[in-house]
Amino acid sequence: MKVQPVAWRDGVVAILDQTQLPARVVIEEFDDWRGVAEAIRAMKVRGAPAIGIAAAYGLALAARQIQTSAMDAFRSAFGEVCAAFAQTRPTAVNLFGAIERLQQVVAQSQTPDEARTRLLAEAEAIQREDYEADRAMAEYGAALLPPNARVMTICNTGALATGGIGTALGIIRVAHEQGKLQHVYACETRPRLQGLKLTAWELLQEGIPFEIVADGAAGTLMAQGKVDAVIAGADRIAANGDTANKIGTYTLAVLAHYHGVPFYIAAPETTIDPATPDGTAIPIEYRDSAEVTHIGGLQVAPTGAPALNPAFDVTPATLITAIITERGVYRPPYRF
Ligand code: MRU
Repeated sequence: MKVQPVAWRDGVVAILDQTQLPARVVIEEFDDWRGVAEAIRAMKVRGAPAIGIAAAYGLALAARQIQTSAMDAFRSAFGEVCAAFAQTRPTAVNLFGAIERLQQVVAQSQTPDEARTRLLAEAEAIQREDYEADRAMAEYGAALLPPNARVMTICNTGALATGGIGTALGIIRVAHEQGKLQHVYACETRPRLQGLKLTAWELLQEGIPFEIVADGAAGTLMAQGKVDAVIAGADRIAANGDTANKIGTYTLAVLAHYHGVPFYIAAPETTIDPATPDGTAIPIEYRDSAEVTHIGGLQVAPTGAPALNPAFDVTPATLITAIITERGVYRPPYRF
């Protein structure tokens, strides 16, 4: 059965708490939008498309909590909730796209009751569209791979991160279904270990052959000719194709370029941000240094050691062989 990171269940938002995976599968139910916003901030739900879906349901929930029948008061309270969601995580543009879509719905509604009904329908549409986008993207992406492909990926871009089968991992899934995939190298993805914990969890469930590798092993595997393609997801793609993704992606792109390995980005169109001209304008999230100094809640760095924790990096468009979306395969020069 498909993993669902976020769901609407009879008036509450259900979130699969990814911070507890793979040890425990815990679904938390929220009847207050503030809990949903905090779940996004704390990365209980993460991955650009899933963040957008969670925010959309969180806003639909907030609309039910705003107790007024006056449209002006409703709009003003709803605007404050949107501002709070916009503060949760800065890099994934899907968050802002979802907020924008729901704000449009409120702008077009005549009464709070109409808005409440339409907001939920819009959140469901965002989730459904993402589900459909993943499948289409996966078909386009799998077609780019050679027979017996050995693919390297980073972070988690699977069903946990999206409304469907995933972006980069969706391509891997479909390539496996088509009998084209020989092996996956899943980079562990320090510091939050999304590759080690989440991608490995999904690949095991799908019966896809893989090995987890330390992030630092990527170069030597490419040098040994063991990688036919690198496929990564995206959190924001600028108008010129520069792409923000999980920290370490840029390193993989440089290594792939050096070794002549194709480097692909897979993301839905909702991750493309034509309003951001290039990578320098993408806001990069810096998270708590404890994510670097501690592993699994245990301090491993010496007490007092400082740490810097950029959560994303930007891969310049010149290093990206192609960008795969549900509309097809874009090749450089990129113009979004
Ligand atoms: O910080 P996260 O876990 O929310 O990271 C986002 C991601 O999942 C990745 O960067 C991913 O490659 C893009 S989203 C499918």
